Amino acid sequence: MKIGIDKIGFYTPHLYVDMNKLAVARDIEPEKFTIGIGQEKMAISPVTQDAVTLAANAALNILDEQDKEQIDFVIFGTETGIDNSKSAAVYVHHLLGLHPQARAIEVKQACYGATAGIQMAKGHIALNPDSKVLVLGSDIARYGLNSSGEATQGAGAVALVISADPKLLVLEDQSAYLTEDVMDFWRPVYSDKAYVDGKLSNEKYISFFNTVWEQYKAKSGLELKDFAAICYHLPYTKMGLKALRTIMDEGTEADKERLLANYEVSKGYNKIVGNIYTGSLYLSLLSLLEQKDDLAAGSRIGLYSYGSGSVGEFFTGILQEDYRKHLHVEQHTTLLSSRTEVTVAEYEDIFEQTLPIDGSTVELNVDNDPATICVTGITDHMRQYVNKAD
Ligand code: CAA
Repeated sequence: MKIGIDKIGFYTPHLYVDMNKLAVARDIEPEKFTIGIGQEKMAISPVTQDAVTLAANAALNILDEQDKEQIDFVIFGTETGIDNSKSAAVYVHHLLGLHPQARAIEVKQACYGATAGIQMAKGHIALNPDSKVLVLGSDIARYGLNSSGEATQGAGAVALVISADPKLLVLEDQSAYLTEDVMDFWRPVYSDKAYVDGKLSNEKYISFFNTVWEQYKAKSGLELKDFAAICYHLPYTKMGLKALRTIMDEGTEADKERLLANYEVSKGYNKIVGNIYTGSLYLSLLSLLEQKDDLAAGSRIGLYSYGSGSVGEFFTGILQEDYRKHLHVEQHTTLLSSRTEVTVAEYEDIFEQTLPIDGSTVELNVDNDPATICVTGITDHMRQYVNKAD
């Protein structure tokens, strides 16, 4: 049975800061951010958005009535969830009006969560070929103002419909994965900002890639020439390039040219959104599919997922006939081009606006947030949401 990605939705908040201006404000040469890190704009999440609303907004515009009938499993990958007990998937299930005969869970392993969700979804579809699974990857990346990771923040979500006979990408069976206890990036339950050992995280990202790539080749018998493109988890867009360069010598000049050119396209959305943690790999895939109009059906795409802590996985998919007809290029282009730039001072102000953690009640004004689904406040320790379309 062919199982894979049937649809991809994406959402990012309506605000961003320009990385050149952030660099100037931090007394850093702008080229460090734009070339050395590879980021041009960074999405800023207002207090009226959280991991739940970003994911719900990402799914909202891609699901039709038939999807809603068939979805019987919602898997929410996040490392910036809102509750230590109740899954973010249950909130999204409600906000989207999905039918009750469904499972709904949250999955956590840093930026690997959505990939774990996809692999779980494959098993579910294999047993229930008529059903569909909604896999969400949604996060708000926060390291702190003036911190070493500040330039690699971001916010956004992807929504993936996993089904039999998918319209976009059939996921192949071979996959290589690795787990090792590493303290490269983590976020204790008492902190709303991540802790990171930047250099170690870069090293582990690459060494995990090299290990799973070797394992994958040994398992599958495939080589670099068999890939049209490789998409990477992109905490910042230079990171994937560093990993790709480590295997470039395995191919011919033509392989090198093709993979580097497609890598450039695959970082397009990420460089103007920033790190969205669990969704980043799939945002890169979306950039490639939506921004490159001549990738042939039948092409193989490699996918490298890395979640600090750490779990890494390399797997692959085959593009389907007429896949371009099932993308939402215009919707995503409009979303990205209609955002509002904020100044560095405004960004700092928004960054500090967080929901109370002392149990107090708060009501938020959502008039200035163009998103359909927003956080409206907290009452009796319960987050309140609105779907303006209801
Ligand atoms: N012009 C051009 N390039 C310049 C420059 C200039 N004027 N000044 C510096 N650079 C280059 C540097 O040479 C360097 O390039 P290379 O990496 O190719 O050598 C690059 O800019 C970055 O410079 P530094 O290494 O000095 O940057 P830094 O120490 O300030 O930190 C970082 C960079 C480690 C990525 C930091 O932002 C960070 O800790 N980020 C969060 C962690 C992270 O994203 N890790 C990635 C792997 S972990 C992962 O993938 C999971 C996840 O999502 C978090």
